[in-house]
Amino acid sequence: MKLLAISGSQRKGSFNKQLLALTTQLLEKQGAQVESVDLRELALPFYDGDIEASTGIPAPAQELIAKVTGADGLVICTPEYNLGVVPLVKNAIDWLSRAKPVPLRGKNALLLSASMGLVGGNRGLWALRPSLEVLGVHVYPDMFSLASAHQAFNEDGGLKEEPLAKFLGRIAEGFVKVTQAHGAIGKKS
Ligand SMILES: Cc1cc2nc3c(=O)[nH]c(=O)nc-3n(C[C@H](O)[C@H](O)[C@H](O)COP(=O)(O)O)c2cc1C
Repeated sequence: MKLLAISGSQRKGSFNKQLLALTTQLLEKQGAQVESVDLRELALPFYDGDIEASTGIPAPAQELIAKVTGADGLVICTPEYNLGVVPLVKNAIDWLSRAKPVPLRGKNALLLSASMGLVGGNRGLWALRPSLEVLGVHVYPDMFSLASAHQAFNEDGGLKEEPLAKFLGRIAEGFVKVTQAHGAIGKKS
């Protein structure tokens, strides 16, 4: 089972990248194969209808479309900006939505966030869900938001707080099971 991991922060010292790396390890322990896509490297242009009309969907967006098409699910770990979805992630979704068929349709998605604040970026995840769901994504019901992220990790990259670490482990396990089950249903139908 293949998953595509996407960080909504491009920053080198990003807490979301740290949380994504930890979650990737947990998902791999459950048997998932996780490929990460670096949105900074991909350098998608901002969605522009004139670009699309004149030269079609640009190469970086085509690359992302191919990666999503080849995956069973997505793992998106992203900060919230001003309580909303970061433009980097929204722009990627907007380009993905222009492909026919829409590659997100029928995929599973696990949403996570991290922030130095006390809500951990959770409001941004609630803002993100509708844009994914309207495109046919099965968003996993449990989301994980890491508050006080600057104090949350130990030196090994794990979470200091045992109950939080366990919760993240359960989410990873549940997400892999659900994604595998959807894959099995897809093969039968
Ligand atoms: C433009 C901007 C808006 C932000 N808005 C929020 C916010 O609404 N809630 C929040 O908890 N943190 C907010 N932050 C702080 C980010 O959560 C913090 O910078 C976080 O470390 C970003 O994630 P990263 O460490 O993965 O880069 C904002 C930061 C920026 C740059």
